[in-house]
Amino acid sequence: MSNCSCENPLIPQIVEVIKIVDETPDVKTFYVQKDNGVPFDVMPGQLAMVSLLPVGEGMFSVSWQEDDHLQFAIKRVGVMTDELHAIDVGQRLGVRGPYGNGFPVEKCKGQDMLFIGGGIGLAPLRSFIKYCFKHREDYGKITIIYGSRSYDDLCFKEELFEKWPQEKDTQVYVTIDNAEEKWDGHVGYVPAYLEELNPDPQNTVAVTCGPPIMIKFVLQALEKMGFSDEQVITTLEMRMKCGIGKCGRCNIGSEYICLDGPVFDLAQLRKLPPEW
Ligand code: FES
Repeated sequence: MSNCSCENPLIPQIVEVIKIVDETPDVKTFYVQKDNGVPFDVMPGQLAMVSLLPVGEGMFSVSWQEDDHLQFAIKRVGVMTDELHAIDVGQRLGVRGPYGNGFPVEKCKGQDMLFIGGGIGLAPLRSFIKYCFKHREDYGKITIIYGSRSYDDLCFKEELFEKWPQEKDTQVYVTIDNAEEKWDGHVGYVPAYLEELNPDPQNTVAVTCGPPIMIKFVLQALEKMGFSDEQVITTLEMRMKCGIGKCGRCNIGSEYICLDGPVFDLAQLRKLPPEW
């Protein structure tokens, strides 16, 4: 992947939906492509504006890119996403981007990687996780801790349970909030599971994304374990609206998340007013 966009990022490109995967009752992954391949290259953690005429548009993280398509895992949360969930393969969409700084894939080279996700927060993390697998020799041990409300709400089950655990030096830990008959794995919230697993902070970067309440307690747990603020990365992608510093809806204090982020380490975030 490269960060180059060869076309104007403000002009939507028309793509066709070539595949739709039901991840959970309210999350679908849409595979989109142009006739001649991907509309633009993205780095892990970057986003794109997806439009469905005449309904509207929304900013979504690209959960993976292959040579010929982009993938967006999108949760139903309102009118636009309800309509998106109703489309079929063959539907034409507009996409423009990429937006945002993305995860610091270069800076993390040579480090062990600890990914901590909750719910649809695994979508942006997935782009970095798969990037690490694609460039496996550049990264150390990979640990993935992921949880959701229920078994049905776990995204990317095939990767979580079948593909990722087969990767070299990789551990995948999955939990759900409450016990269920069909689940014989770990039960409990992600921050508590993280504390139970107690990963070693030495030479490790922690990357987390999920509901704000989960992030809050994950950050506290990481601090207790001895992770420094520079070793902890998160994305404030939910604040990305226009993505180009125009709408004024992403600022924290005087900072625009879309212009400097949405990916920050905790040391950077602590310099902002505590609204994140
Ligand atoms: S997302 Fe619009 S100004 Fe930042």
